[in-house]
Amino acid sequence: MIRVGIIGVGTVGQSVANILRKNKALISARAGKEISVVKGAVRDLSVERRVDIPLTDDVNEILEDESIDIVVELMGGIDTPYEIIKKALSRGKAVVTANKALLAYHRFDLQQIAGEIPIGYEASVAGGIPIINALKVGLSANEITAIKGIMNGTCNYMLTKMIREGVSYEEVLKEAQELGYAEADPTFDVGGFDAAHKLLILASIAYGIDAKPEDILIEGIENVNQDDIDFAKEFGYSIKLLAIAKKIDGQIELRVHPVLIKQEQMIAKIDGVMNGISVIGDCVGETLYYGPGAGGDATASAVIADIVEIVRAGQSSPMLGFKKPFQSEDLTLLPKEEIRSEYFLRMLVDDAPGVLASIAQVLGKHGISIETFLQRPSENAKKATLLCATHTCREKDILSAIDEIENLPHTSAKVAMIRIEA
Ligand code: NAP
Ligand code: HSE
Repeated sequence: MIRVGIIGVGTVGQSVANILRKNKALISARAGKEISVVKGAVRDLSVERRVDIPLTDDVNEILEDESIDIVVELMGGIDTPYEIIKKALSRGKAVVTANKALLAYHRFDLQQIAGEIPIGYEASVAGGIPIINALKVGLSANEITAIKGIMNGTCNYMLTKMIREGVSYEEVLKEAQELGYAEADPTFDVGGFDAAHKLLILASIAYGIDAKPEDILIEGIENVNQDDIDFAKEFGYSIKLLAIAKKIDGQIELRVHPVLIKQEQMIAKIDGVMNGISVIGDCVGETLYYGPGAGGDATASAVIADIVEIVRAGQSSPMLGFKKPFQSEDLTLLPKEEIRSEYFLRMLVDDAPGVLASIAQVLGKHGISIETFLQRPSENAKKATLLCATHTCREKDILSAIDEIENLPHTSAKVAMIRIEA
């Protein structure tokens, strides 16, 4: 029998314990051995939970229990789970984790520490979608040219409801939290950090690149407002938080931000808590993966898949994309300011002669060509909202132009910018 200890019996941990009990015969048959959860660790034993496993508030009761084969870390955070996983590995226990925040920082050192001991992390990206396995195994013949994904269920749920039903940002965030989609600190979701953590994990598998969150462009959905939504609808776009990795001339571009994306694109049709990831390989072409990106049972499905793989294979699979010393080439990260995109700008300005011309002049000076320009009346009769879409230009140039526009005498507020994904 394989004995499992779960550290963190919250939304996902409870689902893991319950599914392993409910589908025990099936899962054991697939793994080739009986799998049992023998203990769970929590912070507060007085909280009522829907599980029937012995609980402790001392993680060492799991880590120091010689009979436990696999430690499942589902507590969240970075520093404490890092120490816990290191201790589990040092005692020869296999580890399964859904913790993308931890892996965003420590995936390479954990792989080194683990050596041949398996670490499963399928649940860390896109909840129930087996995207890690697809990249690590299914697409291993391919050079990956691009990954584009909706990887945060909370943001996708929020944007869908804001666009379709006009629900306010605050109200829909509260709903996502109640449904168990959001992180303990939801700024990780709405700020784009959670999607960035997931992107970094996928980029390690695809490219072997050891980037950290602070190295890449990350913007959240906090500033998306009704004007942006109206513009998007009028011009046939949807608004999505996309995580993008691209290989361009031997460099890797990594970024997370809201995008305007044409409604007819497949990824624009992925709504609600669902996640969708498009992976383009040089042999296979485009492949698309779709499924629930958050929620207890969907995430537990991926956690248990790792447990089954560890039990069945009984050997380590490389935690990252490449087995040393065979990594093909050393790829570097494209500097954020060199990223190229089309952009949408929203500006509140005085409704006066020459204002539009002065803005067009600034854009022209920075080599930015305008694709669409629209003026909308604002609540204040003396002001107007200008909406502008550009042709492709460099991030560095658009940021300089925005800075200059914000300093023009007729500009009243910060310029809002959303990238357009062609
Ligand atoms: P959660 O509901 O907040 O549960 C966390 C659990 O960890 C709770 O049972 C908590 O105990 C326990 N815990 C926290 N600190 C602890 C400590 N120092 N010692 C012992 N136990 C501790 O979180 P979750 O939503 O299940 O998420 C767990 C992990 O899965 C996170 O890394 C998250 O990013 C990841 N994940 C979540 C989802 C999702 O949809 N929820 C999807 C994919 C990945 P108490 O209950 O006593 O406070
Ligand atoms: N908070 C995350 C999300 C959970 O909303 O996608 C799944 O990783």
